[in-house]
Amino acid sequence: MPKKVIAIDGPAGAGKSTVARIVAERLNYLYIDTGAMYRALTYKAMIKNIPLENEASLTELAENTEITLFSQEGQLKVLCDGTDVTQEIRDPKVSKNVSLVALVPGVRKKMVRMQQQLAQKGGVVMDGRDITTIVLPQADCKIFLTASVEERGKRRCLELAQKGYHVSPKKVQEDIDQRDLLDTLRKVGPLMQTPDAFLIDSTGLSIETIVGKILDRCEKGE
Ligand code: C5P
Repeated sequence: MPKKVIAIDGPAGAGKSTVARIVAERLNYLYIDTGAMYRALTYKAMIKNIPLENEASLTELAENTEITLFSQEGQLKVLCDGTDVTQEIRDPKVSKNVSLVALVPGVRKKMVRMQQQLAQKGGVVMDGRDITTIVLPQADCKIFLTASVEERGKRRCLELAQKGYHVSPKKVQEDIDQRDLLDTLRKVGPLMQTPDAFLIDSTGLSIETIVGKILDRCEKGE
């Protein structure tokens, strides 16, 4: 069977990365977490004390940053200019700032270019906010994955706790709301559901059920 391209978009905490990773494993495809790429750049900007409203500096930074994603023992590893930043990019401080960096058109241009190159050979599952619309509009299978605000908040809290960050549910909810707002309203590459993307509301669904729905949809070639 020829290797396909699977694009998954959706808001924060919808469970995209968990299911996308499993779908990729089952198909023996490459999983590309584009959120991790924006997070890595944000982390580098914070370390370098670059003001996040300085679009020119952020664009220049993006142009001069090398981000590598790879899988090691089932875990996604993220390198920024050769340094492992897998843990650091999940810090709540990075989550708070990432949508500000991601709204810079020059940053997005560089990211989209890198992501399109990564998907060139097919056999990829890519998740993010603009994958079905801008990065891979010709994808073989397009999914828009969402869940209720409450469930997304709960999932994010759990995910953070597992990584050792104990953040109050209220703060997590505020972060999600703020990011969704910035990601939806930005001028370039906003989060949106296209008419040809298959909507999955994952509220109350098990991971296995969501994975099954995506694999079914992809098998049908839609
Ligand atoms: O997927 P994750 O929640 O880790 O993404 C972090 C942030 O990166 C998003 O809130 C969004 O601002 C940005 N992002 C984006 N476009 C993508 C992927 C992520 O703008 N394709």
